[in-house]
Amino acid sequence: MKIGEVHDANRKIIGRTMLHFDAVESTNETAKELLESDVEEGLVVWADRQAAGRGRHGRAWASPLGGLYASFILRTKEAHAWLLGLLTGMPVVKALRHFGVFAGLKYPNDAVYQDRKIAGILSEGVYRHDVYHVIVGIGVNTNVDLDKLPADVQPKATTLKREVNLFVANEEFLDYLLNQIDDLYSRYRNTRIEFLLKDYRGQCTTIGKRVSATVGKEKLTGKAYDIATNGALVIIDDQGAKHDFFEGSLEILK
Ligand code: BTN
Repeated sequence: MKIGEVHDANRKIIGRTMLHFDAVESTNETAKELLESDVEEGLVVWADRQAAGRGRHGRAWASPLGGLYASFILRTKEAHAWLLGLLTGMPVVKALRHFGVFAGLKYPNDAVYQDRKIAGILSEGVYRHDVYHVIVGIGVNTNVDLDKLPADVQPKATTLKREVNLFVANEEFLDYLLNQIDDLYSRYRNTRIEFLLKDYRGQCTTIGKRVSATVGKEKLTGKAYDIATNGALVIIDDQGAKHDFFEGSLEILK
């Protein structure tokens, strides 16, 4: 059920209008449904909980009350769903740091603090009436107790509530986050993507680490070396060969 609608005319595109729901299946799905009507670019769908929150690689995203679940709609010139999902990691990390958790980015876009995941991003490209849209969904473990997350997730996860003594309302966190995303999107529209990827590289704590990447049945082990101009993680394997890694599972080795 929709419980509110917030407007912020100070923002350029992202978050000028925000629809607040108490519960939805998935904010990404609600955003997609809204594409059937003539919605403005930058519209945000925010929910207090999700009954069927989705993560990357077809996984579920546990979405208990207290967490932050929001998606926004972009109408981009290019089919940049994946790249925008990657770049959105930066404002998420910025917001977490602003509220007291010195998180970093695990490639591609997991916000991680002391090897525990605190936020994730799922971006999807969809065509509606021949127009390409990107839906970027963000889940942040804000005011959640760790024991409200699934047992298998708990050892690898953390929450803002667990790391910071001060209470941060989701509304306040989202307001700050949307300002940062709005700025990032202006830069995306006005500057070369290489500059943004350079910034991303600076925040990506995976660079320089030994990693093990699995793509389908193939597994490679080596050092995460760079971010390529297409957003791929460049891995140099133990035999010295270079690989571009995008999607698949990535483990940071000690
Ligand atoms: C991941 O790290 O696997 C991505 C998690 C993305 C979760 C968010 S919560 C808001 C939006 N709605 C969804 O169903 N998923 C994303």
